[in-house]
Amino acid sequence: MSDEINVTLSNLLQEDRQFPPTPAFAAQANGKASLFDQAEHDRLGFWAEQARNLDWETDFTEVLDWSNAPFAKWFVGGKLNIAYNCVDRHVHAGHGDQVAIRFEGEPGDRRDITYRELMAEVSQAANALTELGVVAGDRVAIYLPMIPEATIAMLACARIGAIHSVVFAGFSAEALRSRIEDANAKLVITADGQNRRGSAMDLKSAVDEAVDASPSVENVLVVKRTGTDVTWHDRDVWWHDLVGRQSIDHTPEAFDAETPLFILYTSGTTGKPKGILHTSGGYLTQASYTHKMVFDLKPETDVYWCTADVGWVTGHSYIVYGPLANRVTQVIYEGTPDTPNKDRWWDIIERHGVTLLYTAPTAIRTFMKWGDHLPQSHDLSSLRLLGSVGEPINPEAWMWYREVIGGNRCPIVDTWWQTETGAMMIAPLPGVAACKPGSAMRALPGIGMAVVDQEGTPLGNGSGGFLVLTQPWPSMLRGIWGDNQRYVDTYWSRWPQYYFAGDGAKLDNDGALWLLGRVDDVMNVSGHRISTTEVESALVSHPEVAEAAVVGASDPTTGQGIVAFVILRGSTEDAGELIKELRNHVAREIGPIAKPRQVMIVQELPKTRSGKILRRLLQDVAEHRDVGDSTTLADPAVMKLISEGLASSSSDD
Ligand code: WT7
Repeated sequence: MSDEINVTLSNLLQEDRQFPPTPAFAAQANGKASLFDQAEHDRLGFWAEQARNLDWETDFTEVLDWSNAPFAKWFVGGKLNIAYNCVDRHVHAGHGDQVAIRFEGEPGDRRDITYRELMAEVSQAANALTELGVVAGDRVAIYLPMIPEATIAMLACARIGAIHSVVFAGFSAEALRSRIEDANAKLVITADGQNRRGSAMDLKSAVDEAVDASPSVENVLVVKRTGTDVTWHDRDVWWHDLVGRQSIDHTPEAFDAETPLFILYTSGTTGKPKGILHTSGGYLTQASYTHKMVFDLKPETDVYWCTADVGWVTGHSYIVYGPLANRVTQVIYEGTPDTPNKDRWWDIIERHGVTLLYTAPTAIRTFMKWGDHLPQSHDLSSLRLLGSVGEPINPEAWMWYREVIGGNRCPIVDTWWQTETGAMMIAPLPGVAACKPGSAMRALPGIGMAVVDQEGTPLGNGSGGFLVLTQPWPSMLRGIWGDNQRYVDTYWSRWPQYYFAGDGAKLDNDGALWLLGRVDDVMNVSGHRISTTEVESALVSHPEVAEAAVVGASDPTTGQGIVAFVILRGSTEDAGELIKELRNHVAREIGPIAKPRQVMIVQELPKTRSGKILRRLLQDVAEHRDVGDSTTLADPAVMKLISEGLASSSSDD
C-alpha cells in the first residue's frame, strides 16, 4: 500500500495557483472564518447549534454518546420528523408558493412543484404506503429514474419512519435482487420505464425478474413515466391509482434522532454489497449545514442544480435531504447530457438561471472533450458557484471548469466525502478559502481529519499517507446493515482510534489536502465505486472463464477504467467475439457502469507464493508502464508471458 501511495505522490505535480474569493463574494458568504474558531473552541456545542436549525418536536438532552464506539448516537433523546423538516415547516413559515423542484424530463416536458404541492404529494404517498401495510422500520426498495416521484417516495418513507434503500436504476435485475434480499424489503417502488438518450427504456421487467426471486416483497408500486407496455402481476399497483386517491393530509409523527433513515449499498473490497446505514437527526444536521455553508445557499434567490442521480449518496444528501431542509429551489433533470444535443446542460442552466452547479469531474472532462463552443453558445452568467465531487479533479479540468463554465468569476468547491460519511467532510468554505486547482483544501468546521503513516502517526505538511477521520461526526454511518462486525473490521481495525476512509492523501506545504485515490481494491469509475472482486465474480460466473483479475487503470475521462485479465477454461476460436460477450456479461450481472473497458485473455496471472494476485503488476501492464518489482512472484516468468500474449487479445472500444 505504501508503495502505491509513494508512486502517486511522486507523480503529483506541484500546484501553486491560488484563487481567493472576491471581496464581494466573501462579504455575503454564509460561512465565515469564525466558524472554524467556534468549532475548535467547543466542537459539540457547535454541532448542537447546527442541529437547532432543524425543527425538533422534542429537544435532545445530549449531543454525542460515544460510549459504545464506534457506534455513535447523536442528539440523544431528540425527536423529529425528517420529511416535516424538508417540506412542511417551509409551508408553515409562509413559503408554500416557493418552487421546490423544477423538473425537466429528457423529452422536454416540464413540471414545477411548489413546497405546498410537495407537501400534499408526500402526504398522499405516505398515506399510500400505510395502506399497503408499510410501517415504521420496514424496508422499501426504490428503483426509479430521476423524476420527482423519486424524491417524493424517499420523503414518504422518511415521513412514516420506513427505511428506504434506493437502488440506482442503471443497475441490473440481479443487483436489485441481492439488495432487496439483504434488506428484506417489503415494497419496491419503480416506474414502467425511463427516458435515456432519446428513447424509452424499460425498467419494470428488471423489477419483475428481481421480485420473482424475492419472497419478502409484497407489492410493487409503479409510476407511469414512459407509457411502455408492462407485464402486470397481482402484486403490482399503479402509483397514480393508489397515491392519487389518498388524502393530502397526513400528520407526521416525530421519531427518535437515531431512527434509521436509509440504507445505501456501496462497494467494498469484497464482492458482497455493503448496506451503509444512516439515521435521522445527525444525518440531516450535517447534510443541511454543509449544503448551506459550502454552496452558500440563499433560498430566496438561488437556483441550485446537482446533476447526480438519487441512486448515489450525492443524490440523497444534496438533492433530497440537505437542499430541501434548506428550502432550496432546484432543477431536477431526467436524462443524459447529449440529448437532444451535447449542449443540453448549458441550455438548462441558461433557461432556468441556475446559480449553483454541483457535478463530477468525469462530466467536466467529457465536456472539455466535446469542445468549448457548446457552453460558449449559451449565457451562463447566472452561475455564481461551482462544485465537484466523486473523484480527484485534475488541475486542468478544474481550470477549464473555472474559465469556460464559471467565467473566471465563480468559486469552485471540491468536496470530499463518501457514502459512509453521509455528508461533506473536506471542502473549502467558498467565502474564506483561497482555492487551489485540484485540492479539496481542508476539513470543514466541526470535522477532525488527519493524514497518517502506516503506524497511524499523524504527518505534517509536505507529506503523504492515509486519510483518516479523527472524531465522530453527526452524519457518520451507524453501521453496515446486518453486519456490525464488518463495520468494525472495515473502518476501525487498522487504527482503532481512527475511521479509515480507504483513500491516500497528501498535505502540501500550506496544509491544503490533495486526494490521491483509493489505496484498497476499490476502483473509482466516473465517480462511482466498484470493487475489483465484484467484477471478478461476475466474470468467473461466465462458463468460459476459469479465473479473472481486475484492476482500475487511469483513464483520461472516467478517472479509472476497468481492465480485466481472464484465464479461459478452454481455448477459443474467436477471441474478439468472446471478449465482447464477457464485457456484456458483466454489464448484465452488475450494470453497464461496471462494463470493463478492456478484457485481456492471458495464460497466467501474477501471484505470490501464498496465491494472492499482485494487482499492482497488472496495473502496470494496463497503464502501459514498465512492470515494477516482481520479485515476490511465485513464478517470475509470468509477467513476461502476460505482456507477450497481450497484443493478440486486447480489445478497446
Ligand atoms: C470515494 C467515495 C461523495 C459522493 C460520491 C462518491 C472518492 C469522493 C472526492 C473528491 C477526491 C473523492 C474517494 C472516496 N471521492 N469525492 N472530492 N476528491 N476523491 O461517494 O461512492 O461513497 O465514493 O470517492 O475515493 O473514498 P462514494
